[in-house]
Amino acid sequence: MQNTQHITNNLIYVGASDRRLALFENVYPVPRGVSYNSYVLLDEKSVLFDTVDASVAQQFYENVEAALAGRKLDYVVVHHMEPDHAATLMDLMLRHPEATVVTTAKAAQMMEQFFGTKPAQLMAVKEGDTLCTGTHTLVFTMAPMVHWPEVMMTYDSTAKVLFSADAFGTFGALSGNLFADQMDFEHEWIGDARRYYINIVGKYGLQVQNVLKKAATLDIQMICPLHGPIWRENLGWFIGKHDVWSRYEPEDKGVVIIYGSIYGHTEAAALRLGTLLSERGVRGIKAYDASHTHASKLVAECFRASHVVLASSTYNNGLFTPIEGLLADLKAHAWQKRTVALIENGSWAAQTAKLMRAELEQMKDIAIVGEPVSLKSAAAPAQEQQLAALADQIVSSL
Ligand SMILES: Cc1cc2nc3c(=O)[nH]c(=O)nc-3n(C[C@H](O)[C@H](O)[C@H](O)COP(=O)(O)O)c2cc1C
Ligand SMILES: [Fe+2]
Ligand SMILES: [Fe+2]
Repeated sequence: MQNTQHITNNLIYVGASDRRLALFENVYPVPRGVSYNSYVLLDEKSVLFDTVDASVAQQFYENVEAALAGRKLDYVVVHHMEPDHAATLMDLMLRHPEATVVTTAKAAQMMEQFFGTKPAQLMAVKEGDTLCTGTHTLVFTMAPMVHWPEVMMTYDSTAKVLFSADAFGTFGALSGNLFADQMDFEHEWIGDARRYYINIVGKYGLQVQNVLKKAATLDIQMICPLHGPIWRENLGWFIGKHDVWSRYEPEDKGVVIIYGSIYGHTEAAALRLGTLLSERGVRGIKAYDASHTHASKLVAECFRASHVVLASSTYNNGLFTPIEGLLADLKAHAWQKRTVALIENGSWAAQTAKLMRAELEQMKDIAIVGEPVSLKSAAAPAQEQQLAALADQIVSSL
């Protein structure tokens, strides 16, 4: 059955959520599901903003027909060609051959690449172009590399709504409530929002800053993203989070401990350091076993906190592979401006402090605090002192 919802008197939600998907982009776990948002504006002309992933195609087609209620479809605005939004575009066009697709020249080229064909009626738009749909005027604004090159956003200057493409999105299925202010977003959603942003868009902080600068010149009353809830209250709070994330600044002054430990001795030392930090007044400490926590969560936590403790066993003369993977991921996401403390372990030739440092030196503004604690198989009794000294130095740098 159709499952549409009115956002305003003439803007209708026609997207849908997938709760069966294990891995978004075939890599990010989505235990809370994910929504693929799509919107219909019924002005003198009708406009569909983006299509959806193939997994929710059937629900989407029913929704579009219900929203149009027999009207023809005049325009389909395509903000982004990634298949989680565009996989159903050509099927939609078979159902609505009368529609004109409004998109960037780059996206039009990608349509040919993905589909081997392109829509019959195409209108290519560039920065600042407008489309009058009757009472509404849509203004198109380019958002290159947020996070694909062809991305654009649409600002409805009449309703003061920003259709923001993947920006301001989050993992998490929708459950009837469409608006962030109907949910406990600050507690129940922020972790997934951070993980979504950092992993999917995080590398492109500079481009996101450019979009935020443009957005600051607009009177935005509502943000309609392609994933997750719609924002009509407290926009400044969520935009502020994106500002911090895209400047690579820590969100919280605090310590995250991440360890890679084969038999548990490196883990024991890392967790001992956690206790020593707690005894020195540090609150909100988080510890993660890199073998049992998805890299997307670890990367997001490294972006959240100001201080990170990395501990790794030596493994075949190298880093233990979950820590090796994490460092590669952090580098790929341009992680920077953080303070790191190191613990290494090796039963015959510990290498990991040196190896972790070499990786961190390739990143920008990573300060190593204190002396790395070097374990030989297990922490020797005297090494409590070294861990305590490291805790002291972490605390004084907080
Ligand atoms: C497959 C394997 C390879 C290892 N390679 C090295 C190595 O190259 N150099 C070294 O000093 N220790 C090596 N170790 C020992 C680990 O670093 C050892 O597990 C560690 O010292 C104990 O800490 P853990 O209990 O946290 O794993 C290896 C262990 C395993 C299981
Ligand atoms: Fe995308
Ligand atoms: Fe997306």
